Amino acid sequence: VVGIGLDIAKNTVRAVRPIRARRDRRAIDQGYDEDKNSVAYTRSVFDKHAGQARRVREIGGNVLELGPGGNVGVALLFLAAGAKSATCIDVLPWSQTDLPLYRQLVDDPAPYFERIDYRVPEAIETTRLPDESFDIVHSHACLEHVWDPVVAVRQIARLLRPGGVTSHQIDLRDHRDFDRPLDFLRYSDWVWRSAQSRRIYTNRWRRSDWVNAFQSAGLRILTAESTLTGDCSEATRAGFHPRFRAKSLDDLRSLGILISAVKPESPSGRLPPAP
Ligand SMILES: C[S@@+](CC[C@H](N)C(=O)[O-])C[C@H]1O[C@@H](n2cnc3c(N)ncnc32)[C@H](O)[C@@H]1O
Repeated sequence: VVGIGLDIAKNTVRAVRPIRARRDRRAIDQGYDEDKNSVAYTRSVFDKHAGQARRVREIGGNVLELGPGGNVGVALLFLAAGAKSATCIDVLPWSQTDLPLYRQLVDDPAPYFERIDYRVPEAIETTRLPDESFDIVHSHACLEHVWDPVVAVRQIARLLRPGGVTSHQIDLRDHRDFDRPLDFLRYSDWVWRSAQSRRIYTNRWRRSDWVNAFQSAGLRILTAESTLTGDCSEATRAGFHPRFRAKSLDDLRSLGILISAVKPESPSGRLPPAP
């Protein structure tokens, strides 16, 4: 109780606009996690989402990435693999323009950069990018941070062309302490929202919430696999807020998911033919 109370007090102070702006500026100056600027990490993210897209189509057309973080290396790899354009949106301008990473990924990055549209600040919930303008929409460790996941998923469905594919790696853990990954489920929405700053908000959606939202938005799920599982006993679940007590133990044990889906060609839900 003391811990969460302290978080609420801190967050109340941080919500004051000039304080929030100063904290955001300091975070951007410090830069994004350097480990994520590695070839191995960037390629692993590309391989994961390109792999999902290739289940139904070749890499091509217009690609949208949500929350690229400190670099646009994954966008570069999508272009090198055949995409026509790559758009990246983020709520904060983390991405660096001049990194050795880019030359390690492709011989000559300059021509690729002309086809990358990096848009900040732009949130998935509010972006006004046009309807049905993307063939592939993907994100990595981003959707758990969106303030309004229902709207975010509806927006993804709106932005996808019929036949388009979407793929997302989502970390479902309590980011305050990965050793206690479900601890945050003890609180009501009101308490949790009061304790979290918008910049590093974690929305607490479980695997079943994401699956329901994708289906409700008219998307056909390709995979919704747990990429990380933990323990959750009945006794642990009994300590959660009633909203989470209603979830199955299997659902609660899922601590990370890869979810991909396709936007059907027609309202009847026909899938596009496999390549
Ligand atoms: C944990 S970082 C992951 C960055 C990168 N994808 C990676 O794998 O390292 C989450 C990213 O999502 C961005 N983000 C958070 N909420 C967002 C939103 N509503 N719309 C777009 N991007 C958002 C953050 O600014 C940040 O760049």
